[in-house]
Amino acid sequence: MLFNGLKYHLRTFGCQMNQHDSERIAGMLEEQGAMLAASIEQADIVVYVTCCVRQAADMRLLGQVASLKGLPTPTGGKRLIAVGGCLAQRDGEKLVEQLPHIDIVFGTHNIAMLPELIKSALDTSQPQVSTLSDVQADEMVPATSLPARRENKWHAWLPIMTGCNNFCSYCIVPYVRGRERSRPFEEILREVEMLLADGVVEITLLGQNVNSYGRDLYGQPRFAEILKAVGESGVDRLRFVTSHPKDLSVETIAAFAQTKAVMPHLQLPVQSGSDNILAAMNRLYTADDYRGLVHLVRQASMDAGKGGKTYLGSVAFSTDIIVGFPGETESDFQATCDLVEEIGFSQVFSFIYSRREGTPAASLVDENTPEQIQERYQRLVKIVQKSAWEQNQLELGIPTPVLFEGISKRDQTMLTGRSPKNTTVHAKLPPDRSISDYIGKIHPVRIDTAKTWYLSGDLLD
Ligand code: SAH
Ligand code: SF4
Ligand code: F3S
Repeated sequence: MLFNGLKYHLRTFGCQMNQHDSERIAGMLEEQGAMLAASIEQADIVVYVTCCVRQAADMRLLGQVASLKGLPTPTGGKRLIAVGGCLAQRDGEKLVEQLPHIDIVFGTHNIAMLPELIKSALDTSQPQVSTLSDVQADEMVPATSLPARRENKWHAWLPIMTGCNNFCSYCIVPYVRGRERSRPFEEILREVEMLLADGVVEITLLGQNVNSYGRDLYGQPRFAEILKAVGESGVDRLRFVTSHPKDLSVETIAAFAQTKAVMPHLQLPVQSGSDNILAAMNRLYTADDYRGLVHLVRQASMDAGKGGKTYLGSVAFSTDIIVGFPGETESDFQATCDLVEEIGFSQVFSFIYSRREGTPAASLVDENTPEQIQERYQRLVKIVQKSAWEQNQLELGIPTPVLFEGISKRDQTMLTGRSPKNTTVHAKLPPDRSISDYIGKIHPVRIDTAKTWYLSGDLLD
């Protein structure tokens, strides 16, 4: 073992792909004898897994790393700082020039090399910088086949593919995560079996665009087959992120609607409700295409009885929206607001456009002022809140199976979990029961209160 007794701390930014990578990093370090430290102060090595999708993410990371300078370890020794993830992949050597107290920089394609890099940094006291190009990545052990230390016993992230071929004009992800690479079907199913044997009740399939799974493995099963196979494996709950609307096939919609374990929630990023902006974003669908998909999913789900209810809201839709893409006019923005009102999203992740050097949109000029964009963003937030509140009202009085995840920070007797539609649900812990009767398990709750961001009610068992 390389690191007997060494204490590590992990800080993860960005999307679920990074959360998953962090679980593999933790698994790998622990396999080499390292132990999780309760805080950064107690750690001999701090690993940052970074994101660079928007500028705010860059700044947070740099600020946090800068504040570690000179902070002593409990034993008085030197603390190693390792920076990985998407920002590290993008900036490589430049990161050490900016912050010379960084000891290790590793990219998104060579996570498996981290133990060696730590060893070299410890042995030589020299900064170790190693990122690989997308082409070199084919030679590496992918992060997906490393051991994982899962955050929760009952939930697992399961990457089915990595990378992205879409090149939306604003997005840095294809440059830092490389081309699409699908994991072999059998490997995914083997991992599912292992996870089930380990007590996992909920699996989230991961990929930048899960809908294009298998396109690079000619003759292999596609995403619809994965949904069916994993959905019928015995797992209680199956979720997946993210789906690109242009690749959501009728087969996938049918598998989504008909496979019982697949939860009635679809995260389907629309980005804008204006066809001009969608074209400039290189999204390759129109707002009406999007409306058509939502309709198809609702219809197929209703036919299959998904969600167990008969009204049209039986599938929850969530989405991502970018406000202030270069050239966005007031009427483009209004089209986005109209679409949000019309669809009735349960959740919207809205982002102010952030210029990313090296992407095609970075060269576009924008005449909107930051104040105008901010004002639009606030207007959208209000519409989103109204829409989320309205969607939650539809849940009142309905017995809802909740997978409990923990207790409320403010009230130790309040359990919190998630409904099938991925809404937070609170329920009072019965006085004669203990928390462990519920955490990681599914119990029904009758919903009697519906707020904007959560539901609550009484446990039915
Ligand atoms: N692959 C996923 C998510 C990628 S990043 C997908 O396509 O859905 C998550 C979200 O960040 C995107 O959906 C988009 O809304 C937002 N995003 C990406 N690049 C951005 C940028 N340059 N500025 C603002 N938001 C951005
Ligand atoms: Fe970025 Fe578009 Fe790929 Fe999503 S689909 S990761 S937004 S390029
Ligand atoms: Fe960020 Fe990389 Fe995910 S840029 S959003 S962590 S793929």
